[in-house]
Amino acid sequence: MTSATATALGGADVEDRELDSFDLTDPLTYQTTDVHAMWRRFRTERPVHRHPATAAGPEFWVLSRYDDIMKVYKDDDDFTSERGNLLVTLLHGSDSAAGKMLAVTDGPRHAAIRKLMLKSFSPRALRHISEQVVQRTRLLLKGAVERGEADFARDVAEHIPIATICDLLGVPESDRAFLLGLNKQALSSSTADTSAEDSWLARNEILLYFGELAEERRKNPVDDVISVLATGLIDGKPLDEDEIVLNCYSLIIGGDETSRLSMIGGLQALMRHPEQWNALKQGEVTVESAVEEVLRWTTPGMHFGRRALRDVEVAGQRIAADDIVTLWNTSANRDEGVFDAPETFDLARTPNKHVSFGYGPHFCLGAFLGRVEINAMLDGLRTVADRVEPNGPVEPVFSNFLSGLESLPVRFEADREGLAQWD
Ligand code: HEM
Repeated sequence: MTSATATALGGADVEDRELDSFDLTDPLTYQTTDVHAMWRRFRTERPVHRHPATAAGPEFWVLSRYDDIMKVYKDDDDFTSERGNLLVTLLHGSDSAAGKMLAVTDGPRHAAIRKLMLKSFSPRALRHISEQVVQRTRLLLKGAVERGEADFARDVAEHIPIATICDLLGVPESDRAFLLGLNKQALSSSTADTSAEDSWLARNEILLYFGELAEERRKNPVDDVISVLATGLIDGKPLDEDEIVLNCYSLIIGGDETSRLSMIGGLQALMRHPEQWNALKQGEVTVESAVEEVLRWTTPGMHFGRRALRDVEVAGQRIAADDIVTLWNTSANRDEGVFDAPETFDLARTPNKHVSFGYGPHFCLGAFLGRVEINAMLDGLRTVADRVEPNGPVEPVFSNFLSGLESLPVRFEADREGLAQWD
């Protein structure tokens, strides 16, 4: 069955099914269901849903309305990230990086580490990195457009976020191939050629590598995130080794796949909506506004989550202390109570207060950088391509967290004048 048929069948099926029958822990659900039809039903019929226990773990709450999701994102008095912020860790009951890595640390320690890292994430600090993003994107796009066809995911988008994170961390050129190899292994626990143990080992190797680099930077600090973490003081004391290496690694975890999937999903959406491609190409919409709609439309991180610290009420429903609460950004970003015509891909949409980067104390640290990457891609595409068309079957990501495509074969028709501008 092609993915198009699967979605079509899923669409008809969604309206007749019991809401309890959607297993949100199962990655297959997202490949065989019309998820937007499913979320519409949750928002209308059961905005605070008690998901039954599954093979993956115990019961948990599912929030699908924008306002309820924002309320929980904001509220770190009643909800914690320290026992996981994704289904996989929440259902497991703990996250081994809790209290050390930003995304799974709360309170004053979180605020202090975040303040330290923010120094490297201000638009000013990122000026040089942003220029490199633009250069790298142009080089990759130019090559792909001149060849006439490419797997946009593997040949273009895959190379940008990870190289940018290496720039940010200050990973020397000579170590990059080694680190990228490890990262691929660390990510591919679900593929046939890598076992779960291999990916665990690869993750540990990455942490060891960052440990060694941090040691070197402590002696000879330069202008990069590792130096900031390795030399920074909180209450007069240096960070401990785990905090340094885990927060380096968290940039790869947080910033690689999310940005990549947005770029890929953005191009797919543009191919499916030629009038929007034309508007972008002709300069009828700004690239900045297009970036926001691509982020809303693609929502690469489908959900995040929290644990309730005490009994609390959300939308009239009592959530008990210790309960798991999941926040479905995919649904919030299509909430008809907040967005006009949410099922329309509209690059000129304004206002566009999507929650793709989360909200509140854990709001994405890399949001500026993510936007720079998508901006460089959209601006690059409209400059050097006249047309882009699908050129073979796509391959969706298999995940209950990430949404998007691993592979997107395309054919380009070059814009010769645009290409000449980059010579
Ligand atoms: C946090 C999404 C790009 C690093 C988050 C959160 C979301 C998110 C939703 C909040 C998680 C929560 O509340 O539990 C995205 C999306 C991106 C993107 C959609 C791209 C399109 C990046 C990049 C980096 C990054 C490029 C770094 C280079 C982080 C970090 C956190 C975070 C470190 C934790 C912040 C904290 O807990 O204080 N991201 N992200 N992200 N993101 Fe991103």
